[in-house]
Amino acid sequence: METRRDQFLEGMSRAACTVSVVTTDGAAGRAGVTVSAMASVSADAPGPCLLVCVHEKSAAAAAIAANGIFCVNVLGAGQSHVSDTFAGRIKTLDGDKFAPFDWGVMETGAPALDHALTVFDCRLKQVVEMGTHKVFFGDVVAVRNGATELPLIHVNRHYGAPAPLSL
Ligand SMILES: Cc1cc2nc3c(=O)[nH]c(=O)nc-3n(C[C@H](O)[C@H](O)[C@H](O)COP(=O)(O)O)c2cc1C
Repeated sequence: METRRDQFLEGMSRAACTVSVVTTDGAAGRAGVTVSAMASVSADAPGPCLLVCVHEKSAAAAAIAANGIFCVNVLGAGQSHVSDTFAGRIKTLDGDKFAPFDWGVMETGAPALDHALTVFDCRLKQVVEMGTHKVFFGDVVAVRNGATELPLIHVNRHYGAPAPLSL
């Protein structure tokens, strides 16, 4: 029998999402994880704020909480391999998920992916524990919008890119 959890997962698979890699660095070490659970909270007072939801067992969750900073690297349509690497679906030779890609930093020191669609550089404002996940609220201290291109979309358990509706 289809449980409410099954129905929830099926429903969420239809709710198309962008895909981001959330990264952090600092005393607790460098870490990163692929997420679709990223949302704007507010653009205003006291400043722009967003949230990401990360599984409590992800190494990145502990590192973000300890380092107090993170970058949300929103991926472009050509970057599904970055998503798969930080989701653990593509294994790197030495296990370092960062090695195949080029990185810089903005204000906080968290890794900012070269050629990301957009990067939101954040200082951790608050953590809310919600069941299996930690919800990280970040004050956005810097934004880097890359050259305009299509975002990577995850929908119906597949990657895609949005297509404009013809009017
Ligand atoms: C498209 C996509 C979206 C994902 N969204 C999330 C998410 O929002 N939150 C989360 O905790 N994990 C999400 N995951 C799963 C994590 O990326 C995956 O469990 C990762 O391997 C955890 O890494 P770690 O345990 O090595 O830290 C997603 C994976 C994919 C492929």
